[in-house]
Amino acid sequence: MVVFKYSKYLRKYLEHIRSEGLSTGFVPTMGALHAGHLSLISQSRKNADITVCSIFVNPVQFNNKDDFQKYPSSIENDILLLEESGCDILFMPDEQEIYPDEASKIKHFEIGPIENILEGKFRPGHFRGVCNVVEKLLKITEPSHLFLGQKDYQQCLIVSKLIKLLNLNIKVSICPIIREADGLAMSSRNLRLNENERKTAAKLHESLNNIKTRLPLENFLRLKQSAISDLEKKGFRIDYLEMANADDLELLENINGNYNAILLIAAFLNDVRLIDNLMVKD
Ligand code: PAF
Repeated sequence: MVVFKYSKYLRKYLEHIRSEGLSTGFVPTMGALHAGHLSLISQSRKNADITVCSIFVNPVQFNNKDDFQKYPSSIENDILLLEESGCDILFMPDEQEIYPDEASKIKHFEIGPIENILEGKFRPGHFRGVCNVVEKLLKITEPSHLFLGQKDYQQCLIVSKLIKLLNLNIKVSICPIIREADGLAMSSRNLRLNENERKTAAKLHESLNNIKTRLPLENFLRLKQSAISDLEKKGFRIDYLEMANADDLELLENINGNYNAILLIAAFLNDVRLIDNLMVKD
């Protein structure tokens, strides 16, 4: 695996790769890699000739300073995992490389209302930060194919919109959530859970699954209230639990035969914020 810190050299290297007629798959990450990230690398290797991964903890997408400072980091282990998974190129810029000045952090893209609901409502400015960094990373790497994880479902839709808005010819693949044996969606933030919190965290997926099973016959709003009250008893602080149309995240109050729906949840266990989602139809 070749590692780059500077975009100037990475661009040159990738130009050479493209001139050989090879396709490139790109997996952007913030490090603290786990099996979820590695599944994206594996998808990229199946679909593109060369796989590029980036590790950059993007300060601009954190609306909470403490969350940014406590974001897990395990760079040596990440490099080892990427080597073992067959990743070809790692881009590991520092902040100066991505944001040389203040003006380079504040671009706004017209993504539309989807930017300000769910995650956007509870983490103001988050998606603006995501779009800022993703635009820069895509312009540096110019991939043919981008791989994103379904765990950040709203991010997947927003980045797809950004790519359309920028008129970039990049295919986007949304890859399935990888879960621990007890159902907890893999996430770098899981590393911040203590032993008890880690056990409790699996209840998030359990409650989404329970709603999904009962949905065809029962009212969503009642199922939602009962799930929230059960989760709160277990120590969660819920930001939201919603059902939405999977295409545009328009919120739904009932299933009404629309099985193209997705359940989405965000909740805190002490100061660790977890998100998860589940398609109503498999
Ligand atoms: O999902 C993430 O890890 C980040 O939001 C991303 C896409 C790498 C942008 O910083």
